[in-house]
Amino acid sequence: MAVTRSVTKRFGILTAGGDCPGLNAAIRGVCRAAHDRYGMEIVGIANGFRGLINDDTRVLKPGDFSGILTLGGTILGSSREKPFGPTDKDEPESEKVSAIKETYSKLKLDCLVVIGGNGTNTTGCKLAREGLNIIGLPKTIDNDIVGTDRTFGFHSALSIGTEAIDRLHSTAQSHSRVIVIELMGHKAGWLALYAGVAGGGDIILIPEIPYDIRAISHHLEKRAKSGKTFSIVVVAEGAMSVKESEMDKKDRKKYRSEMGPSVAYRVAREIQEGTGMETRATVLGYMQRGGIPSASDRVLATSLGTAAVELLAKGNYGRMVALTGNDIDSVDLSVPEGKVKNVPIDHYMIDTAKAVGTCMGNE
Ligand code: F6P
Repeated sequence: MAVTRSVTKRFGILTAGGDCPGLNAAIRGVCRAAHDRYGMEIVGIANGFRGLINDDTRVLKPGDFSGILTLGGTILGSSREKPFGPTDKDEPESEKVSAIKETYSKLKLDCLVVIGGNGTNTTGCKLAREGLNIIGLPKTIDNDIVGTDRTFGFHSALSIGTEAIDRLHSTAQSHSRVIVIELMGHKAGWLALYAGVAGGGDIILIPEIPYDIRAISHHLEKRAKSGKTFSIVVVAEGAMSVKESEMDKKDRKKYRSEMGPSVAYRVAREIQEGTGMETRATVLGYMQRGGIPSASDRVLATSLGTAAVELLAKGNYGRMVALTGNDIDSVDLSVPEGKVKNVPIDHYMIDTAKAVGTCMGNE
């Protein structure tokens, strides 16, 4: 097939940070468009930035990225390797960054496509400042990346979380219990908020709205008085009490480590102690990151992947592809750098939850 001319002839691709359904759909979108439309050479990098540090790479052929659209996880592997670490910018270049630059030039890459969350796109932005050509592609179940309206992984995790909440209703009702379910989202509460609304959670606790156990207990007692024999509390893993919200980060981390395995168990204990209602806790954990991608995530991942290739073809580096409204766009890599997209407390979904009688833990 005749291929179209492209500025980029050969690029590397990696996936980093927490995995999610849709990663392989994104890899397939990038690789098929790059190979079929532009004849680009593709180097797969194993396990995120660690593969660049250790030169753990291989040329990808069409057979490598065929039949992976519906596969969960990532065929490249992932890691949370942070080449820049916590050091400040005045530190001498780290050995890891030097190794990355050495591998990049040894492989004769024209560009590096990094698929990941906040940390990954931030690392990409810093590598761009070191002179590498970078294209970022946003992914995370947390949906907390500034610069894109949604990330793939979010809808798949939302379906998993909602199904779990649906299942908890029947067992909570059978035993007249309060059941607390913890969803992922250690900095932003998008997943808990949307799954809580989708699943009809009676109380939704997110990191952005510190909770008061008295308000929670009052809401549960009001429900009981109105004849409701059970309740479902949906908690983001990063949800915190008012008391914790007033601590500095270091003290809060210490306090939470001493308070037991995770916030769901603590909230369940406080509810049972405060109301006398029989309460249980469930942590959904990594179920939210596994399995096949939803149709919506497949479409978004593929669209972002092919859009990244158009940036490669034009040599339009230093950008992160993004969903803006219903359009696929791109933003400067500095836009998501070092940031987290939290739920604004005036976000319509919070008012939607309240309008159907949901308690957000603070009133
Ligand atoms: O960033 C996505 C995420 O799933 C968070 O929601 C969660 O807190 C974190 O990753 C878990 O990280 P790890 O996979 O390193 O345990």
